[in-house]
Amino acid sequence: MEAQTTTRFPNHPAMIFPVLLLFLRASAAAIASDTLSNGGNITDGETLVSASGSFTLGFFSPTGVPAKRYLGIWFTASPDAVCWVANRDTPLSNTTSGVLVLGSTGILRLLDGSGQTAWSSNTTSPAPAVAQAQLLDSGNLVVRGQSIGGGGVLWQSFDHPSNTLLAGMRLGKNPQTGAEWSLTSWRAPNDPTPGECRRVMDTKGLPDCVSWQGNVKKYRTGPWNGLWFSGVPEMASYSELFSNQVIVRPDEIAYIFNATADAPFSRLVLSEVGVLQRLAWDPASRVWNTFAQAPRDVCDDYAMCGAFGMCNVNTASTLFCSCIVGFSPVNPTQWSMRESGGGCRRNVPLECGNGTTTDGFMAVRGVKLPDTDNTTVDMSSTLDECRARCFANCSCVAYAAADIQGGGAGSGCVMWMNYIVDVRYVDKGQDLYVRLAKSEFAKEKRMDVARIVLPVLASALALTSAGLYLVWICRLRGQRRNKNIQKKEILGYLNASNELGDENLELPFVSFGDIITATNNFSEANMLGQGGFGKVYKGMLDENKEVAIKRLGQGSGQGVEEFRNEVVLIAKLQHRNLVRLLDAASKKVLDWPTRFKIIKGISRGLIYLHQDSRLTIIHRDLKPSNILLDADMSPKISDFGMARIFGGNQHEANTNRVVGTYGYMSPEYAMDGAFSVKSDTYSFGVILLEIISGLKISLTHITDFPNLLAYAWSLWKEGKAMNLVDSSLVGSCSPNEALRCIHIGLLCVQDNPNSRPLMSSVVFMLENETTALSAPKQPVYFSQRYSEAQETGENTSSSMNNMSVTVLEGR
Ligand SMILES: *[C@@H]1O[C@H](CO)[C@@H](O)[C@H](O)[C@H]1NC(C)=O
Ligand SMILES: *[C@@H]1O[C@H](CO)[C@@H](O)[C@H](O)[C@H]1NC(C)=O
Ligand SMILES: *[C@@H]1O[C@H](CO)[C@@H](O)[C@H](O)[C@H]1NC(C)=O
Ligand SMILES: *[C@@H]1O[C@H](CO)[C@@H](O)[C@H](O)[C@H]1NC(C)=O
Ligand SMILES: *[C@@H]1O[C@H](CO)[C@@H](O)[C@H](O)[C@H]1NC(C)=O
Ligand SMILES: *[C@@H]1O[C@H](CO)[C@@H](O)[C@H](O)[C@H]1NC(C)=O
Ligand SMILES: *[C@@H]1O[C@H](CO)[C@@H](O)[C@H](O)[C@H]1NC(C)=O
Repeated sequence: MEAQTTTRFPNHPAMIFPVLLLFLRASAAAIASDTLSNGGNITDGETLVSASGSFTLGFFSPTGVPAKRYLGIWFTASPDAVCWVANRDTPLSNTTSGVLVLGSTGILRLLDGSGQTAWSSNTTSPAPAVAQAQLLDSGNLVVRGQSIGGGGVLWQSFDHPSNTLLAGMRLGKNPQTGAEWSLTSWRAPNDPTPGECRRVMDTKGLPDCVSWQGNVKKYRTGPWNGLWFSGVPEMASYSELFSNQVIVRPDEIAYIFNATADAPFSRLVLSEVGVLQRLAWDPASRVWNTFAQAPRDVCDDYAMCGAFGMCNVNTASTLFCSCIVGFSPVNPTQWSMRESGGGCRRNVPLECGNGTTTDGFMAVRGVKLPDTDNTTVDMSSTLDECRARCFANCSCVAYAAADIQGGGAGSGCVMWMNYIVDVRYVDKGQDLYVRLAKSEFAKEKRMDVARIVLPVLASALALTSAGLYLVWICRLRGQRRNKNIQKKEILGYLNASNELGDENLELPFVSFGDIITATNNFSEANMLGQGGFGKVYKGMLDENKEVAIKRLGQGSGQGVEEFRNEVVLIAKLQHRNLVRLLDAASKKVLDWPTRFKIIKGISRGLIYLHQDSRLTIIHRDLKPSNILLDADMSPKISDFGMARIFGGNQHEANTNRVVGTYGYMSPEYAMDGAFSVKSDTYSFGVILLEIISGLKISLTHITDFPNLLAYAWSLWKEGKAMNLVDSSLVGSCSPNEALRCIHIGLLCVQDNPNSRPLMSSVVFMLENETTALSAPKQPVYFSQRYSEAQETGENTSSSMNNMSVTVLEGR
């Protein structure tokens, strides 16, 4: 064997990336052409290079498997990035005498040393005349016949995807011929043999991209709604870089993405474990950045909560599942054991069928629409017509708009028969109308004040400079009880749906009328933000008591649970660092003493959550938008159980979403849903580095680094950590304090939760300058864990077993 080249950059922090590491034989005599003409051939060592040089076609061997030769197309700047492989199933063994030949009929043939065909393109209509194969700058290898009219395409590699979707490629189906464009994972990072994971376009209902592992459905994006896939609204937020399109025609139902001129080169890769990642190439630092990935969290697991179940990651409870309003768990014991797959059943049977006074529809807002397989889709009706149509058929249990382009309620509809499955809350989710017996609606009205008010109009969180008041629109009956609430009781409290346990809470009473007055009848001007559960308003109760009022969306059954949790948590936490107040200080330049004070304030707030309160509370969604500053610039940690409702500038929250939320989640939580107090430590570390640097974790277009952690680590390692400090701090900054903060920040974002300090240690380290700190290791990013796990043969989930998953714990 001759010289081998590798394009690994082991010393670069950002390079520990899960892409495949392949040893490619250096081409001795590269053909400097993008075209293979009729009768021509390419031998092992020769290549085709697309006109601008972006893509290369040639022979390669995966890392550690030098005896196997494959014909493939890779991204020239990063030969690890193999986008297409011809002979996935039939590697050439022990030979470098393979040759790719273009026959006169336009068929490409890969011959092994002995002249046997290892692979061939399957041209449906062999061309009689002269043909040529060309590697285009899109990465597409196209065979054209000159006697064929039009484009004359006989065959193209884009029609036979491997595990990678490039701009311009289709993921979809031709319903007329049954031809399919789908991704199939590699079997292992160094084995292109088709693995068990597939990504396909499901066309049985509305177009929906689905990941399969073997014959188990693992994840779906949700149906295409004209603008985005219902479960992935954030895909619309990077439209400056990529345009997403779903083509629906008789001969084609397909997803295609197109990159804008300024977009970084990007590819969608289905990994060996079924994770789809959008990777973007940064030519300056020569690294692939993970732009987005799916599945994102536990609620992306297909049918996580069973029929009529609802999944919510932004919950203070450790149960991610609940039932849609009007339904209860089929098997409550299993639910309490976190086995929610059995789903939910109707509390009251449908009356159905007779007249218009029977069942009704309850809107469940802000969701990824259920699986649309086996549904009835009607693109020509209005939503009202669909409602009537659904109403008229006893089997129809829910309907929703199929196309939300053009605003309003949307047009067209999809109707579900018998049951719905795989529903979750998402930001910018859609409205789903679920059929319930009339008596369910009547029941809502019969309930006492609290029950009416809760789902419709929630309550107020009042705040004064002295502390926190919680206001609940209901009459509080009970006496104060023993303060030492037992763990069991708390867990029961948070999990049981019907035990409100309001008796435990000591809350002031505010009438609904006062709330109306305070918020100027829920005026737009008073609205602070909006989330999956409803809107938040600013209000002024008597005597200049500034309050934030959360108004839950109607029919949002889950919202009631979440609200309950939040009320319970906040009521039990009385601390000056906790809870919210809006302040327009965000634009103010913060000097170093203020930033240091904020850092210390957040850490003390977290200590309080973690250990000084009566409960151990893990916030789980700590991010800058959840930290509010009061007039004194004291930080308040907010949003227990209803993340993002206080997301501040909603637009900003959305554009940051890709790296935003995930940027703050610890690797183990983001990937495996496992969390402990150390997950909050991780988020804190990220926030700390942001406060010092004035940079966002995503670092978009700022440096050559994929994210702030890589950047910080790189500077730290080179002894230039002070360069990380926000330039506006020059003058006010104490280098010792700043360096110490960066050091602590790096300790907090260690990949291994056990290597991260407890928040109590963090506070101690921040306040005692002489304490020696341990040396941080290189922080890594969660996207890497999969590849590491595979390289070491370690099972990702088993690595979680020795991690403590901490649940609320009584103290
Ligand atoms: C490949 O092309 C060369 C000439 O360019 C020719 O000598 C050789 O026989 C060809 N090999 C095959 C397998 O067609
Ligand atoms: C390839 O060569 C190696 C060593 O030369 C040998 O062990 C192996 O069996 C060969 N494989 C095939 C498929 O011929
Ligand atoms: C070639 O295509 C035809 C029809 O499209 C199919 O029946 C046949 O199995 C294919 N052959 C190979 C080798 O893929
Ligand atoms: C895709 O983008 C290119 C420019 O980058 C543009 O010329 C082309 O028209 C776009 N195609 C579609 C289908 O949007
Ligand atoms: C509806 O109910 C009325 C009496 O309430 C009955 O006369 C009628 O037959 C019913 N219609 C159907 C379709 O069940
Ligand atoms: C649709 O129907 C098929 C065949 O009965 C069934 O296997 C599949 O699970 C159904 N899909 C959903 C989402 O209910
Ligand atoms: C209700 O819809 C289902 C599924 O589309 C259909 O099979 C059934 O015939 C319909 N029933 C009525 C009464 O229209």
